[in-house]
Amino acid sequence: MTVVLGICCSRRHPGNSEILLKEALEAAREKEVAIDFLRLPDLRFEPCRGCLACVYKGSCAIKNDDLGILLEKVLQADGLIVAAPTYLLGPAGIVKLVTDRALTLSPHLETLAKRHRVAATISVAGNSQWNPLGVEQLNLFSLAYGYRVIDYLEAYAPGPGEVLLDPANAARARELGRRVARALQEGTGQRPVEPGQCPHCYSRSFRLNGGDGATCVVCNTTGRLIPENGDLHFVPAPPGPEGHFWTMTHRRHHLESWIIPSRDRYLAKRGQIKEMLGRYRGSSND
Ligand SMILES: Cc1cc2nc3c(=O)[nH]c(=O)nc-3n(C[C@H](O)[C@H](O)[C@H](O)COP(=O)(O)O)c2cc1C
Repeated sequence: MTVVLGICCSRRHPGNSEILLKEALEAAREKEVAIDFLRLPDLRFEPCRGCLACVYKGSCAIKNDDLGILLEKVLQADGLIVAAPTYLLGPAGIVKLVTDRALTLSPHLETLAKRHRVAATISVAGNSQWNPLGVEQLNLFSLAYGYRVIDYLEAYAPGPGEVLLDPANAARARELGRRVARALQEGTGQRPVEPGQCPHCYSRSFRLNGGDGATCVVCNTTGRLIPENGDLHFVPAPPGPEGHFWTMTHRRHHLESWIIPSRDRYLAKRGQIKEMLGRYRGSSND
């Protein structure tokens, strides 16, 4: 049976993120998909060590935390709905901590490429003027864990549970849940992209490259920002044969053409680098 996994990233129980996530999951369940649920703050995650054992040895070097629990559920789930509170203009730190560990999917790219997997994200913040990174970073999390993003929701309510005071929030969350179920069952129903958004990932954040050139900061797609009828539209350059940055084909290509060869390039110069490192080994306080 099709499984939709809900990931809650708030410590508040039940906070606004959890409430909207549960509404979305309930609506998905009514469409006859199976539901799974995980609260990330109840698990323990260490920061990535930067050793790339996930790539070179096929599994993460950190064995004594709960990434395995998350990975098992993510690998099983066809759909993902992730909800997080905004702290300091973007999702709570646990979202970034766990996104950093997503290279552990590397051994599974081949299998994941054959599956139809979609995600939707829920970003809850106190104030609509103070949430510029919420959806973007949650969508990045979903892409990094191998899902195509098909919807997102931004809701604004500071106090725990306050999100329920406006019934439109729960209604919209339920719509998002139904959209995920429909996309998995029928392959249709993706949220339409608005002017100024990246068509691959809904990001509204771009690095300006000079002239009208721009790069989406979430999926690294380059293109042009073109004015049309009073709006600015992001028109991506035609993708290479691997598709945009987060497709499984592109990820495999990135692994094979960049990450794996970077090891031999490093090893060839390791002696030279080791000598240069000597003066940095002491404590800065010496
Ligand atoms: C430490 C902290 C930082 C916050 N920073 C922001 C912020 O930058 N922008 C914003 O709009 N809301 C901010 N908020 C408000 C929360 O996003 C808001 O309370 C949200 O409803 C929390 O969701 P939850 O109930 O799911 O935890 C912050 C709250 C806390 C506790």
